[in-house]
Amino acid sequence: MSSILKNDLLLRALLREPTPRRPIWLMRQAGRYLPEYRATRARAGGFLQMCTNPDIACEITLQPIDRFPLDAAILFSDILTIPHAMDLGLEFEAGEGPKFERPVRSAADIDKLGVPDPGHDLKYVIDAVALVRRELNGRVPLIGFAGSPWTVATYMVEGGGSKTFGQIKRMMYEAPRDLHRLLELLAKATIVYLNAQIAAGAQAVMLFDTWGGVLTPLQYEEFSLRYMAEVVDALTREAGGRRVPNIVFTKGGGAWVKKIAAIGCDAVGIDWTTDLASARHAVEGRVALQGNLDPAALFAPPETLRAETLRVLASYGEGVGHVFNLGHGITPDVDPEQVAILVDTVQNYGLGGQPKEG
Ligand code: CP3
Repeated sequence: MSSILKNDLLLRALLREPTPRRPIWLMRQAGRYLPEYRATRARAGGFLQMCTNPDIACEITLQPIDRFPLDAAILFSDILTIPHAMDLGLEFEAGEGPKFERPVRSAADIDKLGVPDPGHDLKYVIDAVALVRRELNGRVPLIGFAGSPWTVATYMVEGGGSKTFGQIKRMMYEAPRDLHRLLELLAKATIVYLNAQIAAGAQAVMLFDTWGGVLTPLQYEEFSLRYMAEVVDALTREAGGRRVPNIVFTKGGGAWVKKIAAIGCDAVGIDWTTDLASARHAVEGRVALQGNLDPAALFAPPETLRAETLRVLASYGEGVGHVFNLGHGITPDVDPEQVAILVDTVQNYGLGGQPKEG
């Protein structure tokens, strides 16, 4: 763990320190658009088998790093590891997304749940973090992650993915105290889980609040942001002699960036529906921003992809505090060649669109 970090651009940018260029990594950078990922999955048998096997999780984490000169690795895992450890019967059917055999619908269901011990129930994740750190050997920093309490709760209560969030919204209106109890438990579980990832070697951590954007502004503050604030507040801030920056990403949270920035996080993830310049203006230099190329721009002709990428760089503008990313995860049907073009554009072209000298 003590190996020297050769590329620390991500950590510097997240802490709003000057960097010679902007770092880039991509949400879901290890995944189905890579033929080597699909080959590993075929060999492993399924998604959960890959997540729960540290050797395989490590191999997949490194695949995009070996292929592209990305500035960070993100642990290959999932936000549903915590409810999986709560024994709700998680399954991933091919092409169907996650399903829980025993969804959480009542006060009695919530009473049965406890905070998983990361060193025991989630040991496979912690082992994977340590292994990836060893194998990365200081090439780039490793990002650990968890879902936000609200987003993880949506899967637990709905029993899987949802379009309407009818079950959890019913609980929110009918039994808000029960839902708060569930969210409080998830916040506690997320704190010990992320801090265990940090202790094992994660050099930055990110909270994925994929479904915060389905709430009203008041509900967002009460049921999502408040619990992310609790998590951020309890995170380990330093490890191995360095600050461990954190990133909070609410998809659909563009109207609330100022409120998100105020919870004490280091960086806010911005989706593609929000103008980066406005978001930067709103946060008044309090946090770094991460984002926000439209993931679908990866389907554009190469020259359009370059132009869109430069537009995102220019919309943030000069100065510290920008980590380039997509506005959401990369989709399975993307051509890896397009990712190579994107990474090259961010790393080798200046704001004006001219190749950098030297
Ligand atoms: O970013 C990365 O490369 C790290 C790995 C990562 C995965 N899931 C791997 C994965 C991360 C950070 C996640 C987070 C995650 N998981 C989120 C929040 C992130 C976001 O996009 O907002 C959510 C909502 C989940 C839950 C989840 N996992 C769903 C809904 C699905 C099925 C939908 C889908 O895209 O297939 C998954 C499966 C999943 N998680 C895959 C991967 C690579 C695909 C599994 C496969 O079929 O091979």
